[in-house]
Amino acid sequence: MKYASTILDTIGNTPLVKLNTITKDIDALVLAKVESFNPGNSVKDRMAVKMIEDAEASGLLKTGGTIVEGTSGNTGMGLALAAIVKGYKLICISTDKQSKEKFDLLRAVGAEVIICPTDVAAEDPKSYYSTAARVAKETPNSWHVNQYDNPSNAIAHYESTGPEIWEQTDGKITHFVVGVGTGGTISGVGKFLKEKNPNIKIWGIDTYGSVFKKYHETGIFDTNEIYPYVTEGIGEDILPKNVDFSIIDHFEKVTDKDAAVLLES
Ligand SMILES: Cc1ncc(COP(=O)(O)O)c(C=O)c1O
Repeated sequence: MKYASTILDTIGNTPLVKLNTITKDIDALVLAKVESFNPGNSVKDRMAVKMIEDAEASGLLKTGGTIVEGTSGNTGMGLALAAIVKGYKLICISTDKQSKEKFDLLRAVGAEVIICPTDVAAEDPKSYYSTAARVAKETPNSWHVNQYDNPSNAIAHYESTGPEIWEQTDGKITHFVVGVGTGGTISGVGKFLKEKNPNIKIWGIDTYGSVFKKYHETGIFDTNEIYPYVTEGIGEDILPKNVDFSIIDHFEKVTDKDAAVLLES
């Protein structure tokens, strides 16, 4: 019989699918790695499990403990799957701009969800960053994941997503283009691919309302760049330690409209 021992063993090895319609005027083979095939429906399953397993190994996360994390929802779903399998409680701190369906799903799989306002500064005690840190401090036997600065995040992508892309493209990949939130995906995959072939270009997708592109190009953290936007999961008003700006060749900014409007065929 061929079966996975737990749902966590089904994470990764997602398909690469050729994009046809959106790329019809482009003279290049463009492939999408469809991370929604992961059991929690996003790329975040990979790093969620890695962060938990590394915290178990280092003793930060103990038996019967509570995992606390600020998440737009997708890391939360990865953490929730691992929490069920491994027997932990989970508290997710999120913002009021994320879709209601994400919160419903997290609650359905047993997580407690605390919702914070989106349009407050990261340092504000009401922000989701501050709330996650406070809840972790107040909850006994808890561990604050901190996907932004937790090195296991980028390492997960260095160990799984990067090698998968290299093998699936037979080493022929020339450009890796990816959304940047915590930076774990771009930094881990980018490091792996550049070690294999330093000529591969690593391009990050940033949002208007986020600080990444300007910081990358000028070294200036410009608070004037920060304003609320609807797109979920990418762009930031902080500089997470997981964004390795040195391996990123270019940032492209996208609007909410780019993300939300269907292309006319
Ligand atoms: C679905 C999804 N894709 C990509 C990202 C961004 O990836 P990373 O945090 O590795 O930069 C996020 C971040 O929340 C996400 O939810």
